[in-house]
Amino acid sequence: MAHSTDKPGQWPRARSARYWESLAASVGTPFYAYDRRVLAQQARVLREAFFGTELRYAMKANANPALLRAVADEKIGIDAVSAWEARLAHANGHRRSRILYTGNFPSDDELRAIASRGIVANLDALSAIDRYGKIAKGSKIAIRVDLERGAGHHPHVVTAGVDSKFGLAREDLPAALEIVRKRGLRLVGLHQHIGSGLCTDAHREVWLEAADALFDLAISTEKSHGILDFIDVGGGFGVAYPDDAHDPDLAQWGRSLSEAFVRRWPSKDRRPRLLIEPGRSLVAACGALITRVTTIKPARDRVWVGVDAGMHTLVRPAMYGSYHPIWPVRERKSKPTECWIVGPICESGDVLAERRGMPLPREGDLLVIGMVGAYGYAMASTYNLRPKPAELLIDGDRWEQVTRASRYAEVCG
Ligand SMILES: Cc1ncc(COP(=O)(O)O)c(C=O)c1O
Repeated sequence: MAHSTDKPGQWPRARSARYWESLAASVGTPFYAYDRRVLAQQARVLREAFFGTELRYAMKANANPALLRAVADEKIGIDAVSAWEARLAHANGHRRSRILYTGNFPSDDELRAIASRGIVANLDALSAIDRYGKIAKGSKIAIRVDLERGAGHHPHVVTAGVDSKFGLAREDLPAALEIVRKRGLRLVGLHQHIGSGLCTDAHREVWLEAADALFDLAISTEKSHGILDFIDVGGGFGVAYPDDAHDPDLAQWGRSLSEAFVRRWPSKDRRPRLLIEPGRSLVAACGALITRVTTIKPARDRVWVGVDAGMHTLVRPAMYGSYHPIWPVRERKSKPTECWIVGPICESGDVLAERRGMPLPREGDLLVIGMVGAYGYAMASTYNLRPKPAELLIDGDRWEQVTRASRYAEVCG
C-alpha cells in the first residue's frame, strides 16, 4: 500500500512489501537501509536553513563509509571525535582541512595520530592542550568551551553545564591561552556543543543564548589573537521521531543565529567562518531498520512481539526511552492490538516499543523501524554474541549492501 512520504522519515512506507521481502531474502534480517536521496534532501534543508554557515557532519551519528562519501559529495565537512573517525573520513573523500577533531579526555596516542594527519584539534582541558603543545608545537588548535548552558532530549546527551564532562570552563580560558602562547600553538577557533535532540522553543532559546555567549567570548579573544578563523556553535538539532510530531523549524534557528552573528561582525570581510555540526538532523530520516517477527507470546495483560532486532541493533529505546515509529511491512487485517515489541537479548530492558497499537503481526512478518539513520548502527553492539546487522544503501531503483552482517569469527574471535 502506498503511503504519504511528505515527511522524509516516511520513505520506507512507499516501498512495497515485496521490495522489503526481496531485500530481506538477499541479506537476511535484521538490516539497516539508508536512502541516499533522503540524505541529499536533508542536506539541502540544512544548507538552506543555515545559509552562510559551513556544515560539518558529526559522523558519530553514523560512520558508514558509503554515507561519508555521500556527505562529501554534498560538500559537507566532518566533525570527528576520535582519531579513527578522522582517519575513516579522510579515507572516504573528506579533505583534512575540512575535518575538525573534537577530543574529550584524549590520550597522547590519539593526539599524536591527529597531529600526524595535520587535522585541527579542538580540545577542552588544560592538560590536553599542554600535551598537544608538546606533541605538535606550532600546530593550529581550537578550544571547546562550556558556557554553562546545556540542553538535550535526555540527561545523558546534555553536553554543557556543571554535570557535563565536556568543555573548558570560561574561567580557565586565560590559562589555556597562556599555554597556547607558551607552546607556540596557534588558536584558530572557539567551539561549543551544548547537547543533542534539541526540538522545542525552550531548547532553541538556550542554544541561541549559548551561541550569543560564544560570540561574545570570541570578540573578547580578538584583542589578543585577532579575528579567529572560525567559531563553531555545534550541532544538536532534533528531529521529530513520532509520525505525528513536528520537526523544529530549522529556518527559524538559522535566521536567529545569522542575525546574532552579523550583529557582532557586520563586515563580510572581517569576520570568522561560522560552523555548525549537525549529526542527527542530517541522517536520522534516511535510515530504516528492517526486522522479522520471530515469536508472538501472549501474556497476562499484553502481547509480546519478539523480533530479531534488539537493543544490540538499536539501543536508543533501551538507553534513552526513545520513540521510533514501527510499521508492519504487510498490513494484516487482524485486530488492532497493543504490542510490546522486544528483541532477543537477555535483559528485561530489551524493549523496542511499549504499548504500540498495530494490527497483530504474525510470526515471519517483517516490521520496519523508522528514523534510525542516526545513533542506530553507530551504537550497535555484539552483546550476547549476536552479529551486527548488514547495512544497505538505496538510491532510487538501485541498492547495494555496503556492510555485511558480522560473521562468527569476527564476533567470537
Ligand atoms: C561535538 C559534537 N558535535 C556535534 C554533535 C552532533 O549532535 P547531533 O547529532 O545531535 O546533531 C555531537 C553529538 O553528540 C557532538 O558531541
